[in-house]
Amino acid sequence: MTDITSQTEAALAAIAAATSLDALEAERLETLGKKGWVSLALKTLGGMSPEERTAAAPAIQSARASIAEALDAKKAALESAALEEQLARETVDLTLPAAAAPKGSVHPVSQVMDELAEIFADLGFAVATGPEIEDDWHNFTALNMDETHPARAMHDTFYFPDKTGEGKDILLRTHTSPVQIRSMLDQGAPIRIIAPGRVYRSDSDATHTPMFHQVEGLVIDRDIHLGHLKWTLETFFKAFFEREDIVLRLRPSYFPFTEPSVEVDVGYSTEGGRRVVGGHGDAPGHAWMELGGSGMVNARVLEFAGLDPKEWQGFAFGLGIDRIAMLKYGMNDLRAFFDGDPRWLAHYGFSPFDQPTLSAGVGARA
Ligand code: DAH
Repeated sequence: MTDITSQTEAALAAIAAATSLDALEAERLETLGKKGWVSLALKTLGGMSPEERTAAAPAIQSARASIAEALDAKKAALESAALEEQLARETVDLTLPAAAAPKGSVHPVSQVMDELAEIFADLGFAVATGPEIEDDWHNFTALNMDETHPARAMHDTFYFPDKTGEGKDILLRTHTSPVQIRSMLDQGAPIRIIAPGRVYRSDSDATHTPMFHQVEGLVIDRDIHLGHLKWTLETFFKAFFEREDIVLRLRPSYFPFTEPSVEVDVGYSTEGGRRVVGGHGDAPGHAWMELGGSGMVNARVLEFAGLDPKEWQGFAFGLGIDRIAMLKYGMNDLRAFFDGDPRWLAHYGFSPFDQPTLSAGVGARA
């Protein structure tokens, strides 16, 4: 009996002295573990006569109870001390600079869209948006491309299965031009908007991706003519490329939604294998590069959009955003734009603090 009493006292002392959960676990194994002395003592009860058992059991039971209780209490105390210690150690100082944190960056396409909005806002344009899932009427018909129009076939359109059975084809918009129609129907005239956004065509190689970006421009007012168009685009490109020597050439072309239609070319030269805009395209060492389409809004389009062509005229243009981003920031593979490679993004991306402003320069890099 005194044996158990002294062994219990020694165990309780060891439990009280334990400074770690590991030390406590070792003590538990030595006492209450399968081969611990308390467990072994309990086992001896089975081989005793009833009298012996009645005499011996209470001391062993009470030793087990007091040791188990001490182990539980000590475990709780050690755990809460460990938590306190961890909380103290892992305190976050929110006032420290986040220098070591991995940095995200703003994609060049997003940055260029912000630049566009900044420049055109200064010219009095609002930013309009439209759905990327469009219907056939807004994407084609109202833009003067009826069912038989050959230009429809050229758009490599992604169509959705016709679930309504109404014959109203639903598609991924092939250009931002349907936003012209939506804006005219929504707000009437006069109008001055740009509409940047994603467009989709079933097309994929080094210079084409199934999704790409365009910016549409639309100005509707009284007495608008091609001169306004040329000045607007020239003013935009000078601000965008941050150089005064931008020369544009308007080349006669055809789009169903404009009449007359022109393609917009910019003069450039090649420096170190890289195209640099600026200068007259016919000057020595220079050439012309196409940047987009434009023209005077076709009278039929105005009618589709509920405007009287005798009262209102306007011009429209459409530019490839990815294209002008590549030109401005010197990338050469369009597909890398949409790979999401962190190394590319770290190299070509922008700091979120690098907000384009006209006063600081729309192309300023942090
Ligand atoms: N929507 C045309 C395309 O995606 C681009 C375009 C051409 C837009 C002429 C216009 C325009 O607004 O006037 O190919």
